[in-house]
Amino acid sequence: MILLSETENFTLRPMSAADIETVHQLESSTNSHPWTIGILQNSLKTGDNCWLLESQGALAGYGVTMVAAGEGTILNIAIAPGFQKQGLGHKLLEFLVTDAHKRGAEMMFLEVRVSNYRAIDLYQENDFAEVGIRRNYYPSANGGEDAIVMMRDLTFAEF
Ligand SMILES: CC(C)(COP(=O)(O)OP(=O)(O)OC[C@H]1O[C@@H](n2cnc3c(N)ncnc32)[C@H](O)[C@@H]1OP(=O)(O)O)[C@@H](O)C(=O)NCCC(=O)NCCS
Repeated sequence: MILLSETENFTLRPMSAADIETVHQLESSTNSHPWTIGILQNSLKTGDNCWLLESQGALAGYGVTMVAAGEGTILNIAIAPGFQKQGLGHKLLEFLVTDAHKRGAEMMFLEVRVSNYRAIDLYQENDFAEVGIRRNYYPSANGGEDAIVMMRDLTFAEF
């Protein structure tokens, strides 16, 4: 178990199969098109880095990354509604990037819905910059929504 910060009661630990139901509930409460239980199971099975953020045993957030050939990807990040706007998204994102860097990532990528202003703000505040657009990447009520592709260069990062 890893302490998120020395002054707070938030801890991080790897997700296991037994956590999937709870994580799926968090997904469903934060995302209009949540990851399914099958996607979460597959993520664990394929060896993605799946981390849980907890406060005294309660799930406060989670994040998933993968690293291959020097490239890291933030596959998902979410903070439970009752824990948002306290700086936890920022801290969890920094943890995920640092962890991916330790696993060999020299660059981090992610995709985000163009309508997801809160997430885009979070990423920009954490040194991610837009590098492209994927048209109709996400399902939406209107049939499809574009994704902004963002990147953070970790070549000279000091963690
Ligand atoms: C995007 C998301 C992870 C951000 O999590 P969060 O914990 O609320 O993020 P933070 O608290 O670090 O920062 C968010 C805002 O809270 C503000 N904030 C941080 N600490 C604060 C505090 N103590 N008091 C008040 N506001 C605070 C930040 O300044 C920031 O404000 P801004 O958006 O106006 O710049 C969260 O909204 C979420 O889970 N969304 C649904 C899932 C999702 O969209 N994930 C991204 C998929 S690509």
